[in-house]
Amino acid sequence: MRMIFDTTETLSEAAAAFFIGTAQEAIAAKGSFFVALSGGSTPKAMFEKLAAARDIRIDWDKIYFFWGDERFVPNSDPQSNYKMTRDALLSHVPANHVFPVPFAETPALAAEAYENILHDFFPALPRFDLCFLGMGTDGHTASLFPGSEALEEKSRWVSPSKSMAGGPERITMTYPVLNHAAKVCFLVAGKDKAETLKNVLKAKASEKTLPAAQIKPDSGTLLWMIDKAAASLL
Ligand code: 6PG
Repeated sequence: MRMIFDTTETLSEAAAAFFIGTAQEAIAAKGSFFVALSGGSTPKAMFEKLAAARDIRIDWDKIYFFWGDERFVPNSDPQSNYKMTRDALLSHVPANHVFPVPFAETPALAAEAYENILHDFFPALPRFDLCFLGMGTDGHTASLFPGSEALEEKSRWVSPSKSMAGGPERITMTYPVLNHAAKVCFLVAGKDKAETLKNVLKAKASEKTLPAAQIKPDSGTLLWMIDKAAASLL
């Protein structure tokens, strides 16, 4: 399903409302809400709206926050997805409900540590109630980059990864986890994404060079929240 918004402002408002509605639904159904967040700049505005809506009737202490991916940097680093989210949203959330990717000696050790955290929390393949994802202009999502070995990972839940175009090394949840979520929601904004988004949404099932096109929930729903600029070629 696709929802197209006039501006990133209205997209962020809708994404925050979707978070709240999904959280209320999950908490009513099972007493908890497991959410995997994405990084980058697009979700930041949504986090700020959620922080502003804190008095909305949600049992924030029944929400458990994870990250679909992280840069291989300390949690205090300005590049950290966790730091961006903590600064924008998490100051009121109990620390034992927030599961950042641990920093370690190497990306592989950080990925292994996060995999262990997930195994301690989930008895089987994690099923997030909601998984937010972004999309890069190269078609990456989470930190599943074109050409990365992480794309081929079928058993590990977390993998080290990096973009062939350079940039910081990364840690990412893998397709088996991301595709097992009950709801997956892409947030895509900006004209620079338009060409890639057109290709991703029209990609053949076997398309490997556009990782975002390989997000096909095995039993959940997929929602694209897109602003008009990114949707301009659809
Ligand atoms: C990250 C993200 C990444 C992001 C896309 C889109 O760590 O950068 O998890 O996958 O979602 O790169 O980023 P923007 O929303 O900033 O364009």
